[in-house]
Amino acid sequence: MKQAFVIGFPIHHSKSPKLHGFWLDHYGIDGSYKAVEVEPDNLTRFIENIQSNGFSGGNVTIPHKERVYEIVDQLDEAATAIGAVNTLWFEGSKLCGGNTDAYGFGANLDAYAPDWRNGDVALVIGAGGAARAIVFEILKSGYSTVHIVNRTYSRASALANMFGSKCKASEWSKLEDLLPTADFIVNTTSIGMDGGNETLLPALNKVKEQAIVTDIVYTPLQTPFLKAADDRQLKTVDGLGMLLHQAVPGFERWFGLRPEVTDDLRNFVLGG
Ligand code: ATR
Repeated sequence: MKQAFVIGFPIHHSKSPKLHGFWLDHYGIDGSYKAVEVEPDNLTRFIENIQSNGFSGGNVTIPHKERVYEIVDQLDEAATAIGAVNTLWFEGSKLCGGNTDAYGFGANLDAYAPDWRNGDVALVIGAGGAARAIVFEILKSGYSTVHIVNRTYSRASALANMFGSKCKASEWSKLEDLLPTADFIVNTTSIGMDGGNETLLPALNKVKEQAIVTDIVYTPLQTPFLKAADDRQLKTVDGLGMLLHQAVPGFERWFGLRPEVTDDLRNFVLGG
């Protein structure tokens, strides 16, 4: 039986066991995927013993993504650029680390708003770990400018510096001026979780009519930010698909079959 894990600290909130469990059942695969809480002090030991504990690989989540990036034997292109690993697998005895967050972000938008790759100016709100993967994917799509706006300017500036001259960091106060310039707008902050923000929502009134708007928060599915964009009749894409799609490459590596992201899966992950 093939076995995979997700490690984090804490880990009880993770939806990954449910999501991979759905696919294992659906495809009748003799495998398991389980959440393992690993304290930061035990991370190295856990990583060293992955194969001897019978695992084919697994996922890595907060707070371990950057530490794991430091200790794997080999990194894929996305993990190298993003500086964080969320997926582990073996090639022989070599431990490989990849980052599928950027892929998941892109694949979700490809499914619901394929035109998103044709824009010229993007606006990324927030500059945390998730924003790094998103900026990487946006740049891969050929955008000429990626504005990064963050409450803490220094983090926006550090992120922009990681990815070169197409990325421009701005102060939070510039958000209102930048929103009307963007073809594609993504909220990567947790603003959506706590009921909204006075700066952000009214400013959406000035956004281009054809702009595509997405949020990576998926609880609630329609964040206040997406609701405001929807009220303004902008094209919106919710964040759940990013979670579902980022899981695809890992599942394929551990269990040997490329799973499909379907409405049934979406409803299953949303339920309970
Ligand atoms: P993640 O890895 O999910 O991106 P993170 O690294 O904690 O999480 O980043 C959270 C992001 O949400 C940051 O950009 C944070 O801004 P700061 O860098 O200034 O902390 C942003 N954020 C969180 N709460 C916010 C709020 N109430 N208003 C604006 N930005 C907020």
